[in-house]
Amino acid sequence: MIIAVDGPAGSGKSTVSKEVAKRLGITFLDSGALYRTCAYIKLTHKMSDEELIRTVRNAKMAFSKDGSLNLTINDKTENVSGKIRTPQVAEAVSSVAAMPEIREAVTNQLRQMSETDSVIMDGRDIGTCVFPNADYKFYLSASSLERAKRRMKDYEAQGIEMSINELVREIDERDRKDSEREHAPLKKADDAIEIDTTHLTIEEVISIIAAKTTN
Ligand code: CDP
Ligand code: CDP
Repeated sequence: MIIAVDGPAGSGKSTVSKEVAKRLGITFLDSGALYRTCAYIKLTHKMSDEELIRTVRNAKMAFSKDGSLNLTINDKTENVSGKIRTPQVAEAVSSVAAMPEIREAVTNQLRQMSETDSVIMDGRDIGTCVFPNADYKFYLSASSLERAKRRMKDYEAQGIEMSINELVREIDERDRKDSEREHAPLKKADDAIEIDTTHLTIEEVISIIAAKTTN
């Protein structure tokens, strides 16, 4: 079984998908973490686009049982989970994710990761491109102010300070880039169920998805 959960930044995709996975006993895969890792590689090694594409094609990314993401380049493995949710990566990621060669490499890795297990995968193009034949598709949305408030709490927990205005700008800019890119833009699949989470708790969203997928 494949469940696709798409939507813009901070709409609650990862939090909700992780919990639905637990309740259904299936695997959760966070596709955005792979794109963030590509941006992290670019920033850390100050690579040109050509070098980045070559490196990503030869890299291996794998989630471990505890959900952390391991990146292997040239036989060297690094746990990148604590390094990819920074404002610097958030600012760089949309341009990296707009490159068709990067999308192809990441999409291949995501499909490979889903070959043996039932999965719930969250992202921007899961229902439209990665798994157009997914068994269930959801599209989560929320106002950009609400999403910025949520992201502010996440950053605060990491000790990162950013004003609400800066965050609304970061989120709006990323939404714009993700929706306007040529390849696999952020878009609701025609057959996805849309859930506006602006006024919903995490538990309410989980219940809606769990109810639709267990019938
Ligand atoms: O958690 P948040 O919603 O902030 O973002 P994410 O899911 O970690 O994704 C980070 C970025 O990766 C997005 O802004 C997109 O540029 C890109 N992405 C994508 O292009 N396609 C996906 N399936 C998932 C993420
Ligand atoms: O994956 P995505 O960027 O769509 O969002 P997330 O990282 O799952 O959620 C961003 C933050 O919003 C997390 O701290 C969630 O706990 C919180 N959240 C919330 O307060 N209410 C919701 N209905 C959904 C998420």
